[in-house]
Parts: sequence; structure tokens; C-alpha cells
Amino acid sequence: MPQIVQIILTIVVFLIIAGATVFLITSVISLLLNVPYVGTSSRELEVIFGSLSLKNKSTFYDLGSGDGRVVRYVAKRFSLISVGVEANPLLYLYSIFLNLIFHSQYVHYKLARAENISFESADVIYMFLFPKLLNLLSSKIKKECKPGTIIVAHGFKVSGFDEFLYNTMPGKPFNTYYYRLNTPQDDV
Ligand SMILES: C[S@@+](CC[C@H](N)C(=O)[O-])C[C@H]1O[C@@H](n2cnc3c(N)ncnc32)[C@H](O)[C@@H]1O
Repeated sequence: MPQIVQIILTIVVFLIIAGATVFLITSVISLLLNVPYVGTSSRELEVIFGSLSLKNKSTFYDLGSGDGRVVRYVAKRFSLISVGVEANPLLYLYSIFLNLIFHSQYVHYKLARAENISFESADVIYMFLFPKLLNLLSSKIKKECKPGTIIVAHGFKVSGFDEFLYNTMPGKPFNTYYYRLNTPQDDV
């Protein structure tokens, strides 16, 4: 076999093994966190954020930001300071790496559990998380967020937030729920 073919084969096998290892480690960490990594698709992003007017809003958070795609999308579309909070170190590092390529001054990532950060500066919060973690975060959000903060929950409703619900976007496979704190009767 020519040497160049051997080199290419070695590189391909190395990339496959490295990719599989990273995938495996990411899956194990996700299992430990009780929330698997599933990214919001770009088609869903258009639908979810298409109906939002974010005038006078300056700071966006994605709690459990995965590879950071929602953060990058919101920063680009709305020119908001966009903060991704991710507990899985590999996904966090991957987000940082992607931001080196698609550099944006608006994008920031934190390696942290969402339960441990302050929401005081948030104007808009996006969550694509399981109900158990949503329940854990809901009282903290109520306590720390300012009136008028918009909460967008993709996939599952936030328990105890029914009075703030102003819109439900049906979707496949997931619905999206829009809440605005303390101003349940107004439209956005
Ligand atoms: C369903 S994915 C959503 C990813 C991203 N928001 C998106 O829509 O593309 C949920 C993410 O939350 C992260 N996660 C799970 N528990 C977390 C916690 N307590 N704090 C921060 N991130 C967490 C997981 O690692 C995973 O990346």
C-alpha cells in the first residue's frame, strides 16, 4: 500500500476514534447531569425567536447552552449580550472554540451549573431542559429576575409559571412556552 494512503487511513481512523471518544465522554457527563445534550435546530431557532420583539432588551441567557448555537444565533440576530451557561466542560470548550472561529463581541460562555449563577442581569432567558431542573430553577428565576424578564422554555413548561404564560408555540417535536414575569396580561 502506498505510504500516502497509509497516512490518510491513519488520520481517518484517529479522527473517528477521537470523535467517538468525545461523543462518549459527552454522553456520560450528560447522563450524570440528568439532561442529555440535544441542540435546538436552526429551523426551530427561526420559529422560536421569530415571534420575539426584543426591543430595549440587552442581556440574553441560555441556561444549558450545549454547543452555544442559541447564544451565537441571538447575538447575531438581535445584537444582545448573549451568555451561555453550560455545566458540561467538553461542550463549554467546544463553544469557546467555535467562538474563536465565528468571533462575536456579544458572545460569552460560563462553565457553571445554572443553579449557581445570578440571573439579576438577564432580560431574556432561554431554557431547553428537563422538568426536574426547570422546577429547581423556577423559584430562583422568580426571586432574582426583574419584572418584564422574558422566559422562553423549549420542550417543557416551567412549573409555577402559568400566570406569566403569554404564548405557546406548537412545534414538532417540542412546543415552546413564552413567559413574561409580573406582567401576564400584556402582549409582547
Ligand atoms: C437539551 S440541551 C440544550 C442545548 C442548547 N440550549 C440548545 O438548545 O441547543 C441541555 C444542555 O443543558 C446542559 N445542562 C444540564 N444540566 C445543567 C446545569 N445544571 N447547568 C448548566 N447546564 C446544564 C447539558 O449539558 C446540555 O448541554
